[in-house]
Amino acid sequence: MQELIEKIRADIAAGIEKAENGTRQELFELKMKYLGKTGEISALSKGMRDVPAEQRPAMGKLVSEVRAWAEEQFERTETLLKKKELEARYKSERIDVTMPARFAETGTLHPVSLVKKEIIECFEGLGFEIYEGPEIEKDYYNFQALNIPADHPARDMQDTFFITEEFLLRSQTSSGQIRVMENKRPPIKILSPGRVYRSDSDATHSPMFHQMEGLVVDKGITLCDLKGILDEFARRMFTKETKTRLRPSYFPFTEPSVEVDLSCHNCGGKGCRICKGTGWIEILGAGMVNRRVLENCGIDPDEYTGFAFGMGLERIAMIKYGINDMRYLFENDVRLLKQFKD
Ligand code: PHE
Repeated sequence: MQELIEKIRADIAAGIEKAENGTRQELFELKMKYLGKTGEISALSKGMRDVPAEQRPAMGKLVSEVRAWAEEQFERTETLLKKKELEARYKSERIDVTMPARFAETGTLHPVSLVKKEIIECFEGLGFEIYEGPEIEKDYYNFQALNIPADHPARDMQDTFFITEEFLLRSQTSSGQIRVMENKRPPIKILSPGRVYRSDSDATHSPMFHQMEGLVVDKGITLCDLKGILDEFARRMFTKETKTRLRPSYFPFTEPSVEVDLSCHNCGGKGCRICKGTGWIEILGAGMVNRRVLENCGIDPDEYTGFAFGMGLERIAMIKYGINDMRYLFENDVRLLKQFKD
């Protein structure tokens, strides 16, 4: 029996040595093998019955010694493994507070939205209110009330998408002028952003684009007021040095009508690639509200006068950001959009 005890002791010692680099589960299994109810040391205790009576006290002592020793070995190793486990966890869960943070990608405002926002801020500062009209519009508001009767040749410039004989996708935000003047008496000072549609499609035209309309009606409004407001707008939107220039033009709903150019913000008027060597860039159409249009809305043209202007937002965005093909604005390519992060 003594030999058996020595063998168990040696086995445990060898087992423990291996277990020091193993898992706690392995250690537990090893412990059960010797100290469990049916384990080898427990078997020793049971085997005492067969030991001759005179040897029993000495053997009993040896067995309890080996048991105490084994328990101590297992406990020590258990503590060791626990400590190792904890250290491994500390290591793997360690946080380096000096590491740079990972930033989440955020969206950006589309250049057309940016331009729209900027123009609105500019005109709100000048006392304009925002009005948004419907995109599905009556022929009457989009054309007839704006002095473009059914067979007027000016309809050719703005061929649009008809839904029925009476309803169409508006081709200009000017339709909003009528809706505002029908419902509000002067003084009127509104700015009207929105989508418009035309059957047009090339590098500088898209079947859907955005416009911004302005309308001011009051007593004694003149072309000088229009020029003054546009000068201020040009300075705020582009540079302090930007100048405007009016050229005669034609729109059925304004009289006189003008085309407005800005001095080129890139070359300051000397002539460059952006302004095609002319020093000027065309940015909008405008004019004094035609008497007929005021009359159509029940406003007395002898008492009130007004001016209106309309600009394409894609065009302004292209000028401002140097984009040379309008289609880039509709492709939603993140490589373009990313460049407009604030
Ligand atoms: N609605 C015109 C266009 O789309 C622009 C414009 C607006 C001209 C207001 C004069 C006055 O071309």
